[in-house]
Amino acid sequence: MRLPCQLHLLASSALLFPTALGYPETGRVHRDGQLLKRSADSFLATEKPIALQNLLCNIGASGCRVSGAASGIVVASPDKSNPDYFYTWTRDAALVFKCLVDTFTNSYDTGLQTQIQNYIAAQARLQGVSNPSGSLSDGSGLAEPKFYVDLTQYTGAWGRPQRDGPALRAIALVGYAKWLVSNGYTSTASDIVWPVIKNDLAYVAQYWNNTGFDLWEEVSGSSFFTVASQHRALVEGAALATSLGTSCSACSSVAPQVLCFLQRFWSSSSGYVISNINQNNGRSGKDANSILASIHTFDPAAGCDAATFQPCSDKALANHKVVTDSFRSIYSVNSGISQGVAVSVGRYPEDSYYGGNPWYLNTLAAAEQLYDALYVWNKQGSITVTSTSLAFFKDFSSSVTVGTYDSGSSTYTTLYNAISNYADGYINIVAQYTPSDGSLTEQFSRSDGTPLSAHHLTWSYAALLTVAARRAGIVPPSWGAASVSVPSQCYGTSVSGSYTLATSTSFPTSQTPISTTLSSSTAVGTGATSSTTASTSTSVTSVATSTGCAIATSVTVTFDELVTTQWGQTIKIVGNIPVLGNWDASKAVTLSAVDYTSANPLWWASLSLQAGQVIQYKYINVASSGAVTWEKDPNHTYTVPSSCATAVVKSDKWQS
Ligand SMILES: *[C@@H]1O[C@H](CO)[C@@H](O)[C@H](O)[C@H]1NC(C)=O
Ligand SMILES: *[C@@H]1O[C@H](CO)[C@@H](O)[C@H](O)[C@H]1NC(C)=O
Repeated sequence: MRLPCQLHLLASSALLFPTALGYPETGRVHRDGQLLKRSADSFLATEKPIALQNLLCNIGASGCRVSGAASGIVVASPDKSNPDYFYTWTRDAALVFKCLVDTFTNSYDTGLQTQIQNYIAAQARLQGVSNPSGSLSDGSGLAEPKFYVDLTQYTGAWGRPQRDGPALRAIALVGYAKWLVSNGYTSTASDIVWPVIKNDLAYVAQYWNNTGFDLWEEVSGSSFFTVASQHRALVEGAALATSLGTSCSACSSVAPQVLCFLQRFWSSSSGYVISNINQNNGRSGKDANSILASIHTFDPAAGCDAATFQPCSDKALANHKVVTDSFRSIYSVNSGISQGVAVSVGRYPEDSYYGGNPWYLNTLAAAEQLYDALYVWNKQGSITVTSTSLAFFKDFSSSVTVGTYDSGSSTYTTLYNAISNYADGYINIVAQYTPSDGSLTEQFSRSDGTPLSAHHLTWSYAALLTVAARRAGIVPPSWGAASVSVPSQCYGTSVSGSYTLATSTSFPTSQTPISTTLSSSTAVGTGATSSTTASTSTSVTSVATSTGCAIATSVTVTFDELVTTQWGQTIKIVGNIPVLGNWDASKAVTLSAVDYTSANPLWWASLSLQAGQVIQYKYINVASSGAVTWEKDPNHTYTVPSSCATAVVKSDKWQS
């Protein structure tokens, strides 16, 4: 059934691996730090834009690989068979948008903002779709794991409910709401985003103390990843509520109990997290579940706190060693790699799905936890070794003993550098098993590293983007982990919530960041530069909302289309507005080929369009005979920016 595809992969990997972008042939021979660093640098520099582009290709409605997916819907993978991942999972989608919101918060991007808004609008609708887990009336339907990409329910048998979904979606949306608040758009956060978040928080506060399926959709019980995500959602949600002038009292009362329960997963006798409890599945409990929990609840302001399992905490580091070591002896690709050198990481050692293989996103997560830890050590200027984490650190310095090492000490330097190399080693493993086109599947073979299972897994691309950011020292905003404490007694307290469908989902245009508005107004306001600058520190919000730069009413949009053509063919653009011929091919606008070369087959046209206008269009290829070839679906959808910019470029590629 999967044969043609497998053969293709084997053939291409055999051809391409030896020369794949100049990456090291094996992770294990390059123990030299400089080499490791350089190859990780070069891989990530090449792979980051590829990952972002491929990730966006899996988001409807305009994603290049997911025709038929609704606007804002993240498809897990374009594959429709072996395995069929052509669905939207609440968890995967939330983790993808958590990554995009962090990317957006770090660097404003109008295209990403539109995606985020589409996602929020789609989630508002999905919350109201009744499904086999239940409905919105009592919240139960919120934990349905997956839906069809047109937002209809999936009624087949599945491991449901999965209670991490609502928590992760709340976290992603809280991230955007916080950005809105800090840029002066509190009413958008209150009116549009908060009603969606509120349902998910109510769900968590009501149902956290029930069992459900884990993130791998196999074990029904209590999952560390789920509980850690639920705790973060409640803490962050309560803080957001306060900043919006409302409250989430259930969040505040339940969060400490969720944190209390979270402690139960740690086995002090074994020295690692038992990832699934309240079940009896006969597994060791060693599971990348726990590493993912740590990186997705990383708070750069929380130090090495062990109660919230921060990446540099002694418990999380001890756990990192146990989980990654569990894959050393079982995968051939890891054979001969010594302790303290990176290995390929799967889900859990007993895994048999597709034969039980390493996953890109778990191997990247192992690196990400270490980069998070390095960031905090660097910031606090010391590394603490406890009896719990001693075995982890001994892999990097056999003589190290329990203690705190300041950044001036040689022990600090030895550990810091060795762990940087160790982290880079995980990146190099992924580099080694990534085909030269940069595409990432779900898994790679335990015996020879051949890519396996779903192609273009959206979550794999998100994992690549987050680890690249952390390695570059770009960390997410704090979520308040430093302010929590574990109650002395644990109770299964829960609070029944009320649920209301969020119906207001149309976002105001031109919600640009304060700083962008400021710099443009500074640039425009010649002569008043000093007073504009002086006002920035005192009343930032009023500058952004009232006296910013002029919002353009019409925008010159240059459509860049890359498409290889034959002599005599002409590329035109046609769409749903009069300027674009109202879909009439005979009224299409002709693009210019003056900049066309075989290396860069560019056709372009500049059109004046109304700011904020949403257009749909396609390119057509008109032969000298007049015969018209249309681009493949979907139609392109584009929102003309409503901002200070008077000219923008929209880059497209022929959809074939
Ligand atoms: C509910 O909470 C109590 C107290 O922490 C805990 O003992 C129990 O295992 C929890 N059950 C589930 C299913 O979360
Ligand atoms: C593209 O737009 C045209 C005109 O509105 C419509 O007929 C067609 O169904 C659209 N294609 C898709 C895939 O939505």
